Parts: sequence; C-alpha cells; structure tokens
Amino acid sequence: MVEVKLLSGALGAEVTGINLKDSSNENCKKINDLLLEHKVLFFRNQNITSEEHINLANFFGPLERHVYVKGRDKYPEIVRIIKGPNEKHQWGETWHTDVSYNVRPTKVIILRSIKIPPVGGDTMFSNMEVAYDTLDEKIKEKIKNKKAIHSSLGAAAFVEKYKEMEGNGNLDEYSNQHPIIRTHPETGKKILYVNSMYTKKILDMDQNESEDILKKIFLHQERLDFTCRFKWTENAVAIWDNRSTQHQGLTDFFPGRGLGHERIMDRIAIEGDQPI
Ligand code: SIN
Repeated sequence: MVEVKLLSGALGAEVTGINLKDSSNENCKKINDLLLEHKVLFFRNQNITSEEHINLANFFGPLERHVYVKGRDKYPEIVRIIKGPNEKHQWGETWHTDVSYNVRPTKVIILRSIKIPPVGGDTMFSNMEVAYDTLDEKIKEKIKNKKAIHSSLGAAAFVEKYKEMEGNGNLDEYSNQHPIIRTHPETGKKILYVNSMYTKKILDMDQNESEDILKKIFLHQERLDFTCRFKWTENAVAIWDNRSTQHQGLTDFFPGRGLGHERIMDRIAIEGDQPI
C-alpha cells in the first residue's frame, strides 16, 4: 500500500510502498502524480542499480548531460556528486534551481545516495509557487511580464573547488533570459523563477532598481516556512520538480562534527521545457 508522509507544511513527502526498480508506465505515472502534488518525494531503502536509476529517469523525458561536469565513465548521464572526507564544501551548497542558465532548464532530478556522513549534509527544498503567492503585491506588479538574465558565470568553478569531481573540459560561460514569473507546464500554477545563484539582472529595468528588487526577492525566497529538509540515509532517492522548487545541499561539515566523512550521490537530470 502506498503511504505518503508530509515533511512540512510547504512541500515534500516521504513515500513508502513504491518500488523504484519498477519503471513501468503505471508505476512512473503514480510517482509523477505524487511529484506534481508534493514537488519533492523521498524514498528510503531503494537499492536500485545505475541501470534502474536510468530506466526510471527515462519516463520523465530526455536525459540531460551536465554542461560542465563529467558523467560517470560507463553511465555518462549520471553525475557522481562527491564531497571528499576533508572538504568543507559540497556541490550545490546555496539556494538554486539547477542550470537555470540553460534555454531549457532541468525538469526533474533523481538523486540517489551512495554514501552518507553520520551527521550533516541534509538537503533542503523550497516551494517557489508558495513564494510567488506570498510575494509583496508591489513587487509582483514591478516584475509582471518581465524577464531576467540567468548566467552560468562561476558554475564551472567546481573544477577547482571540489577536488573529487571532474569537469568535462567546458569552461565557456553563457546566459539566457527567462520570465521571472513562469507557468508550470503541467499544473498551470505560477512560479517565482529567479534564484540567487544564477539570476543576475532584470531586463528592461534600471541596474539599481533591478539589484534592489532581486535582493528583496532572494530574501523572500529564503523564508524557512517555504521549506522542507531531508535527512539522508544510504540507498535513499529524492525526486524533485526543478521547475517549481529550489534546493541546497547543507554544508554543515564542521570540525569535530560531520567533517572527516565522505558524501557520495548519483544524480540524473531530465531536460525540461523553455520557461514561459
Ligand atoms: C544539487 O544541488 O544538485 C545537489 C544537492 C545535494 O547533493 O544535496
């Protein structure tokens, strides 16, 4: 029997009674319905192989190769996220939406835990539909029908920053523009679609005003009441809707606490639509 336990009042649910080895249309459709409702789903004790991980991801659409990160040798569509034992940082450590600088940013991510430190390294998620609904009306009016520039500036920096991860050789930086308020292609809901990691400027707006509004929006998006937090165990899987959420991997690896341990995750991304 499928059971769904909500993680917070904002988003996220831990699901039991679904086997992720089963990538049949029927099972995947059930997962997608739950995903659209809760935006991020967590499954524990899912000892899936890399092939089963890929099969599951194939249901959601074409698999995306990361612009900067080298995929695994045998499975180039899987990026292995590694935080070495003595690294204090990890990939994706501040609030963001994955690759929002792309023309068609990621639709869904499926992240599987391989090795988890005894403490630290939880992942947080935040609901960007609620962020839109609760945004100050004056700001909503200012950003109505506006676009913002999303840049990959700095995204390739992990090559120097994370010793255990390898770049694919690409260091070219580029930008794309997306509506600040996008509409979810499956639910029709409005989403606040800027993020402090990649969004640089509001188009057709004076630089100072753009900076001021983006600063206010980023602060609003960080509200803890929009979030949920997942404490990983090994062989757990998170599936999230990258269109309507933001996330960050907490880097609470401090001396005497989480430091000294490895954290390893396998990530598959599914390509999304061009935001409208
Ligand atoms: C990511 O930002 O895609 C990774 C998040 C995590 O490892 O917790």
